[in-house]
Amino acid sequence: MSTFHEKVVYQIYPKSFKDSNGDGVGDLKGIIEKIPYLADLGVDVLWINPFFISPQKDNGYDIANYVEIDPLFGTMEDFEELIAVTHKYKMEIMLDMVLNHTSIEHDWFQRALKGEKKYQDYYILREPKADGSHPTNWVSKFGGPAWAPFADTGKEYLHLYDVSQADLDWRNPDVRKELFNVVNFWLEKGVKGFRFDVINVIGKDEVLIDAEDGIGKSLYTDRPIAHEFIHEMNQESYGRYPNIMTVGEMSSTTIENGIAYSNPENEELSMVFSFHHLKVDYLDGEKWSKTPFDFMELKELLNDWQEGMSKGNGWNALFFNNHDQPRAISRFGDPVNHFEDSAKLLAQTIHLLRGTPYVFQGEELGMTNPEFQEITDYVDVETHNAYKELQEKGLPHEEIMEIIKEKSRDNSRTPMQWTHEKNGGFTTGEPWIKLAENYHEINVEKERNEGTIFNFYKKLIQLRKEMPVISEGNYRGIMMEHPSVYSYVREHEGEQLLVLNHFYAEPVTIEIPEEFLTRPSQYLIGNGTKRALTASLELGPYETIAFYFEVDKKEAKNS
Ligand code: NOJ
Repeated sequence: MSTFHEKVVYQIYPKSFKDSNGDGVGDLKGIIEKIPYLADLGVDVLWINPFFISPQKDNGYDIANYVEIDPLFGTMEDFEELIAVTHKYKMEIMLDMVLNHTSIEHDWFQRALKGEKKYQDYYILREPKADGSHPTNWVSKFGGPAWAPFADTGKEYLHLYDVSQADLDWRNPDVRKELFNVVNFWLEKGVKGFRFDVINVIGKDEVLIDAEDGIGKSLYTDRPIAHEFIHEMNQESYGRYPNIMTVGEMSSTTIENGIAYSNPENEELSMVFSFHHLKVDYLDGEKWSKTPFDFMELKELLNDWQEGMSKGNGWNALFFNNHDQPRAISRFGDPVNHFEDSAKLLAQTIHLLRGTPYVFQGEELGMTNPEFQEITDYVDVETHNAYKELQEKGLPHEEIMEIIKEKSRDNSRTPMQWTHEKNGGFTTGEPWIKLAENYHEINVEKERNEGTIFNFYKKLIQLRKEMPVISEGNYRGIMMEHPSVYSYVREHEGEQLLVLNHFYAEPVTIEIPEEFLTRPSQYLIGNGTKRALTASLELGPYETIAFYFEVDKKEAKNS
C-alpha cells in the first residue's frame, strides 16, 4: 500500500471544472465525465473544493449545511457515483472541510438569531466595548472589522472572513461533537481524505483582547489549544480509519507549528499547506500591491520549510497554485516567451521536493491569469472588497485594475479550458465567470495532441511512485547564494538526486560542486537538451534538470 509520500493530489475547483447540464456552473457529473482524463495524468487523490449547501458568498466556503450537496453541483447520488467511479480508477476523494466558520444561513446561526441559547453558544458573540466600539480591534481577512451586529441583541459575532461567515466556538464541546460527526459522515461515505480549511485559527482564547498591531492574527493563530482540538478530531474521526490523508490549510503559520501539526507522533494531520513562499510578490507584506517577485526570498522560504520540516519529521503539501492564488506561470514564469519551459520548470521545482505535490486544475496545461479588463468581470468577494479599499485610499481605477489583474483569486477560478470551441468546452450555457481568452491556444485537446506539459507532469507523477529518493529522500539546499538558480539535493539509502531550477530567461552557467562530479550520473528528467553533468553547466531559459546518482550500495551501508 502506497503512503501519502508517493501520492499526488489534483485539486478540482468544481464550479469551474466541467458543467454537465448547461447551467454555466461545473458539477459532480462533470467531474465524473473527466475521471479518465485525471486517471491518465496519474494522480491518486482528488481534492474537491466545497460543494455543500451554500449561499455561495465565498464560493462554497460559506456552508449552510455540511452534509448535503448543493443542487448547483448535483445530488448525493451523483456524489456516490463519483466515489464509485474514482475507486474504479484507483483514485480517492479528498473533501474540503470548512470547520472554522459556517454561513450565517446555517441552521445553527439562524436558530441562534431566533434566541436559542444552545446555538448562540456555537458562535463567538461578545458585547461591544463601553464606548460602543467593536469587542476587539481585529480586522477581517477580507477587509473591514472582524465583528458584525448579531441582530438587534446589542452583541456582535466574530467573522475572521466574510461577514457571511460566522466563526464557530470550538471551545464548546457540543460544537466539536457536531463537527466531528460531519467528518465521520463523509468517512462513512467512503471519503479517504480531508483538507481542513484555515484549521490553525480555530483556537480562540476565552477572553478576547485588542491586538497591538490592530490586526489580531497572533491572538488566534496557532494557539496551543488548536493543536489539542485537531488531535481530538483525529482521535474522534479520521484517526479511527486506516490510511486517511489529511492536510491542514495553515494561515500565517510557523515551521515549528507545521512540524507539530504534521509529525505523525502527535496524531494531528498528515501534512500542512503553508503560504509564506506565495507572498514573495507582496510589497511590504501587502497583497494588494504590484511588484516583481523576490526570487531569493522564494528560494530561501522553500529551503527553510524543506529543511525545517525534514528535521522535525513534519510533512509539507507542495504547491504553487490553488484556487486562492494567481496562476504561478503568470507570476513566476513567462507564459508569453517561454510558455512550455516555464510551466515545466515550476512543475519540476515542486514535484521533486520532499512532501506531497498538489496540481491545481489547468496547471497541467499551463493555464494563465485571464487578464480581465473590468472590475465587473471579477466575482470574488475578496477582490471586490479590495477594490473598494484601494479606491478609498485614493488609487485611480487603472492602477487598481493593474493590481487586481495580478492578485485576484479569480485568476485561478476561470473555467477549465477543455477545447478551442465556445466557452472552451466547459459549458454549453453562460459560464458563471468569463474564461481566459487564450482558451483557443491553451486547452486540453490541443495539449494532448501537440503539447508537452501534460506529459511532463505525467512523468513527474510516475517518477515519484517509482523512486524512493523522490518520495522518501532527505532534502538539502545547495548553491543558496545563486541569484537565478534554485538547486537542491535529495538523498535516500545511497541514491541521490541533484535538481537544478533556473528561474529566468537569460542563460546562465553554473559551477557544479565537486561532490557531484566524482560519480557517474544520469540525466533523469528536464525540459532542455538531454546531456551529461559537467563541471560547468549552462542552463537555458527556465531550464530545469534533475540528475540521478546511484551510489554503490556497499559504500552506502558503510557510511
Ligand atoms: C481559505 C479558502 O481557501 C478560501 O478560498 C476561503 O475564502 C477562506 N479559507 C475562508 O473559508
